[in-house]
Amino acid sequence: MGQYRISSTQLAARAAYLLRGNDLGTMTSAAPRLYPHMWSWDAAFVTVGLAPLSIERAVIEMDTLLSAQWSNGMIPHIVFANGRDGYFPGPAWWRAGELAAAAPSSPATSGITQPPVHAIAVQRILEHSRHRSRAVRQLAEEFLDRRWNDLMQWHRWLATARDPRGRGRITLYHGWESGMDNSPRWDSAYANIVVGDSLPSYQREDLEHIGDPTMRPSTAEYDRYLWLVEQMKSVGYDDQKLSEVMDFAIEDVFVSAIFAMACDVLAYIGEDYAKPLSDIRDLRAWAHRFRTGVVASCRGPSGIARDFDVRADRWIETETIAMFAPLLCGGLPRDRERALLRLFDGPRFCGHPDLRYAVPPSTSPVSADFRPREYWRGPVWPVMTWLFSWAFGRRGWPERSKRLREEGLRQAEEGSFAEYYEPFTGEPLGSMQQSWTAAAVLDWLD
Ligand code: SER
Repeated sequence: MGQYRISSTQLAARAAYLLRGNDLGTMTSAAPRLYPHMWSWDAAFVTVGLAPLSIERAVIEMDTLLSAQWSNGMIPHIVFANGRDGYFPGPAWWRAGELAAAAPSSPATSGITQPPVHAIAVQRILEHSRHRSRAVRQLAEEFLDRRWNDLMQWHRWLATARDPRGRGRITLYHGWESGMDNSPRWDSAYANIVVGDSLPSYQREDLEHIGDPTMRPSTAEYDRYLWLVEQMKSVGYDDQKLSEVMDFAIEDVFVSAIFAMACDVLAYIGEDYAKPLSDIRDLRAWAHRFRTGVVASCRGPSGIARDFDVRADRWIETETIAMFAPLLCGGLPRDRERALLRLFDGPRFCGHPDLRYAVPPSTSPVSADFRPREYWRGPVWPVMTWLFSWAFGRRGWPERSKRLREEGLRQAEEGSFAEYYEPFTGEPLGSMQQSWTAAAVLDWLD
């Protein structure tokens, strides 16, 4: 592959080796030490990487995740691996099985959710299976038949419990639900949260694994994260009560765009595999409602998307990767979409002259909030590069998709499959051997 230092075959082999190393049997840990369990959106991206290697193993990954789905339809953000420690907050902090009527008693799960990227994983399983033997195709189709209602229930829960005001935007009750824990997007909302005296003392584990604490959220941030979990526990994680009691309630535009896109993807799958027409109608209606909700959040001629703080009753203005939400799901008028693409390519994001690779940083390098080494406040996350490259392909922009893929691969050939990277130097940061980074590489190289 010419411009790369190691061959694509070597890189793919290393990525596959990494996923095998993180394989716990029926789930892949998100990372070997920092995240030793299954995370919901990690599992979906991991499935995307497993699909070209083994449809059978990819199906197991999704089956494990969906076996932990709550009876209300929520897919929890963590499924805890039996008997593994090393992560805080673990099952003893969440106590979901004991406190939440909708939670399964086993396996142990957290009590919040994460972005709904799972339809993409299902699509990749089906797509890859088409090029395999009849037995493999059958395995994939049986998986779809087995899980279709679960996927519908998941999407229905998001469209109802998480859009109580029918605004076409998903409401989150915890910053972790966005997957972008300490993004500047949440600063103003967290600033309004007063941590109660009853917050039990706790011991973080993440800093045991990550030597440099400035790569992780601060202690003040962790206090708030854990306080919000206490609020959730106080109402038994009840959907209705959460909307009343939670100090953090944000309509997340990026999650909403992912949801609109995922509803479209699932609707296409439903049509291809002759699923009930009423389901396909619901999916199309949700895709339309959430696309409209995303577009309604956009400001100015360049269509910058914004989150909405329900508690403060105001739009949130930050310069982060979430500004580009409508590029994922579409819906902007052409001129505004072109302006937003120019912003994506330009010096505030991928075209910043000092970037090592032309991929979108989590926060704009020209923003006052930018911190180049600090988790979601600046670093480049390969999985985000993958998501945009995949979505751009789907939107009918193959050149853009290819450019991101090539830059993403140039970054990956460094070989540590890091969770995130310093945007200017390319230094790998956070957890090494992150499963979803390997999965992105495997899909790109397939
Ligand atoms: N990303 C969070 C963590 O760092 C939880 O989802 O633990």
